[in-house]
Amino acid sequence: MTFERIKIMKRPQAEPHYDWDGLVQEDRVHRFIYTDPVVFDMEMTNIFGGTWVYLAHESQIPNPNDFVTSKLGLRPLIITRDEKGTIRALYNRCTHRGTTICRVDKGNNRAFQCPYHGWNYSNTGKLRGIPWPNGYAEKLTKDEKYNLAQVPRVESYRGFIFGTLNIEAPSLVDHLGPIKKPIDEWLNRNPGGKVVLCEANRFKYKGNWKLAYDNSGDGYHVIYSHRSLVQTENRFDDEATEKGMSYYQTDPDALPIYIQYMGNGHHFKDKRPALKKRPGGLWAIEPLHPGMEHVQEKFRSMYGERAESMLDLAGSEPVNINIFPNLSLLGNHIQVFQPVSFDETETVWYGTKIEDVDGTLGEEALTDINALRMRTQEGFPNFGEVDDLTNFEQIQRGLTAPEDEWIYMNRGYAIPDRIQILENGTVKGPATDELFMREYIREWKRLMKSDLNIAIKREV
Ligand code: FES
Ligand SMILES: [Fe+2]
Repeated sequence: MTFERIKIMKRPQAEPHYDWDGLVQEDRVHRFIYTDPVVFDMEMTNIFGGTWVYLAHESQIPNPNDFVTSKLGLRPLIITRDEKGTIRALYNRCTHRGTTICRVDKGNNRAFQCPYHGWNYSNTGKLRGIPWPNGYAEKLTKDEKYNLAQVPRVESYRGFIFGTLNIEAPSLVDHLGPIKKPIDEWLNRNPGGKVVLCEANRFKYKGNWKLAYDNSGDGYHVIYSHRSLVQTENRFDDEATEKGMSYYQTDPDALPIYIQYMGNGHHFKDKRPALKKRPGGLWAIEPLHPGMEHVQEKFRSMYGERAESMLDLAGSEPVNINIFPNLSLLGNHIQVFQPVSFDETETVWYGTKIEDVDGTLGEEALTDINALRMRTQEGFPNFGEVDDLTNFEQIQRGLTAPEDEWIYMNRGYAIPDRIQILENGTVKGPATDELFMREYIREWKRLMKSDLNIAIKREV
């Protein structure tokens, strides 16, 4: 494979001599890492470029010539599947004068025509033709420098497509390491061990992207920030006493739930030990929104003993599987963090469907299960997410005060025997600990300090 090694031209003032060890300490970080636009610019290369970043899901482009637009940091991309099935991450940027060539979210096409002057590219990134070629001294379609830039390394893990510009990064599988196990478990409970992504539900907040990642494993805030959601979920059903995240109402550190740092910035919040392990145990904590009881009753009368485990397929698994820097699998949804600027971020939620891979569910049950899965979005993804986004915006506001410099992430720090370092190098602690923040931000610092070997690729 040939790569174009990149030494990016930078603004003269964009080479600051940050004291990274001063900004990111053992148990606290400086406000600059959330508020400084130059730190953000560097992150777009050293983090969103330097490590594997989630780009799209294979179920969004199941057929030859399907495509979906995405981003790698701020870089606009088109994720294509060519006629032979090869997946590429093309820069959505015309090689002529730089405009985006694809301006729709998704579709099926073998080629993309630039709307500005009509240069035409195949979905492999090759320039196929241009209007009135006699106006150029050379034949542009013969010179690979006019083919679209591509992310040089694109790999999938069980349907999740990632890319990196770092040609020295380990393979995706090695990079995921121990976090593969919870991903596998999250997928394996579904027929055929897979999910299909639904359409996106998009939010935006005025705050740094790391505020969302900091929160993704935070078990300390739940009962304070989401109290109204927990109360609402438990008010809907007369018989319910423990719906949704109710288990957080008592001291969460006294429960068997835990947070585990999984290496390379990834972390895992496992709340499954708080569930009763029985068919229907997962469905039992699912808050019912009006109309859902009807399907539940239908299942129980139509399918007898099987009903409970079928309903579990619609339930939201109580895990947060956080894959640094931009992907979270939680409940039966996935969430993608998309930076926009140092103080603006999009969080995009996708519901997931299951397929009746071996024909054991039948069409009616499958439709009902997938409808119920979609309706679980009426719980946390809509009514909990807004609580979190409000916190992120208010943190960004609080951090505008320059004299009060530090953010503490020291919950659970320096308490003897509180944290376990396991044999595979992962670190485990009680549910409310901020150990996952201390660990992931150390990985962030390592990448920010690194002189990375960044490249792009073009078809030849
Ligand atoms: S900018 Fe695309 S053809 Fe000119
Ligand atoms: Fe939250």
